[in-house]
Amino acid sequence: MSSTEQIQTLSSADLALARAFPKNFVWGAATAAYQIEGATQEDGREPSIWDMFAAIPGKVHQGDNGAIANNHYHLMQEDVELMSRLGLGGYRFSIAWPRIIPQGRGAVNAAGLDFYDRLVDTLLTKGITPFATLYHWDLPLALHQEGGWTNRDTAYAYADYAEIVARRLGDRVAGWMTLNEPWCSAYLGYGIGIHAPGEQDLQQAIDAGHHLLLAHGLALPRLRANSAPNASVGISLNFTPIYPADERAETLRDAERADLFVNRWFIEPLARGQYPGGLFAALEVEPPPVQAGDLELIGAPIDFLGVNNYTRDVVRGGTTPARADESIKVGPVPGACYTEMGWEIYPQALTDLLIRLHREYGMQALYIMENGAAFKDSWDGGDQVHDPRRVAYMQEYIGALASALEQGAPVRGYFVWSLMDNFEWAEGYAKRFGIVYVDYQTQRRIIKDSGLWYSALLEAWRANT
Ligand code: NOJ
Repeated sequence: MSSTEQIQTLSSADLALARAFPKNFVWGAATAAYQIEGATQEDGREPSIWDMFAAIPGKVHQGDNGAIANNHYHLMQEDVELMSRLGLGGYRFSIAWPRIIPQGRGAVNAAGLDFYDRLVDTLLTKGITPFATLYHWDLPLALHQEGGWTNRDTAYAYADYAEIVARRLGDRVAGWMTLNEPWCSAYLGYGIGIHAPGEQDLQQAIDAGHHLLLAHGLALPRLRANSAPNASVGISLNFTPIYPADERAETLRDAERADLFVNRWFIEPLARGQYPGGLFAALEVEPPPVQAGDLELIGAPIDFLGVNNYTRDVVRGGTTPARADESIKVGPVPGACYTEMGWEIYPQALTDLLIRLHREYGMQALYIMENGAAFKDSWDGGDQVHDPRRVAYMQEYIGALASALEQGAPVRGYFVWSLMDNFEWAEGYAKRFGIVYVDYQTQRRIIKDSGLWYSALLEAWRANT
């Protein structure tokens, strides 16, 4: 990409933004295996819970699934070339457990490991630092048939899988994330069933959440033991800061409960080795089956926290306390803008969140592992896609990040969600988050204006540092 032209497209505010970030900051983009790879029946991969779930009529928009997705499994080289043209410094991808150990435990599939080995080497050849997520929601179906995450044994199977991957890639992966958004796996997957495996039982969600955390805790030492000494190990959590709609006592009470459920369920066991007080009562469930030693494993120090943030929620209190997952969310907020997901654009929430994670939870290294926006992008068959709203979103959120940094939050990197449009889970292909447009008919990739803008920002940052 001709960098001088790109730099000229930046405003003076953009140039000032680029100057706000330190030299070793990691600028990247993120994806996940099931959302982009396709090739679900190739080279020994067996089904995951998402293959099963997507096949159930009515679960995914228009019956879409990840069978082909972006065909990244076959277009990997071209996609890394694209990242290189964008000037990315880091790439966050996920590894599909059902490619590596197709039955969840037992036999290892060499072809699966070979794919990620090639991906990592290709990234390194292009000077792009690999950040790998070991679990981004694609549980091997065979393990689901034994209870999935509600079965404690799944955590042990996961730790074996994590070690196998680390033994192969640990000399080159810079950052490991054990799990992506376990809150979503637990609550959306087992609590309300809008994600795989589609269970609807809050108690199962709480139990699954504990086994996910245990999987993280069991894997930590095994990842460390099999990775380069300078590799770091962390986890990515989703956060949606909660703001009260007014100052009434019932609003403050319900906002607290929503925060407990949305934002504190996973960070507190990780950061403090204990579940937040009142969580289970506020959800009207029993505590999960915690065994001796579990919370010590779960609360072991991590090297970084991955933060996924897109929006905030505004809560208004009802007359009786709402169950923590049923608080009243108000919207639309007057004057506010929303993305295609119906998520409010509120960058200040990212600043507030990062400061809180540092001050309240003592996090010493934070990476934004996901942030981005879905909009109705249209492509006319040419080589441009104009997405001014995504450019504005990124300017504002990266600005919010700069302000958190300035206030002392230890932010080390930013990964936009997503490198390219992809399979947006229950929303199928209808929601486009990419900074690169994907024409699913031809698998052509077209860099959107937001991709050009991001690329220019990175170029300006490199020129300054
Ligand atoms: C959450 C998930 O980690 C990712 O897979 C998803 O596509 C984005 N955020 C957008 O919803």
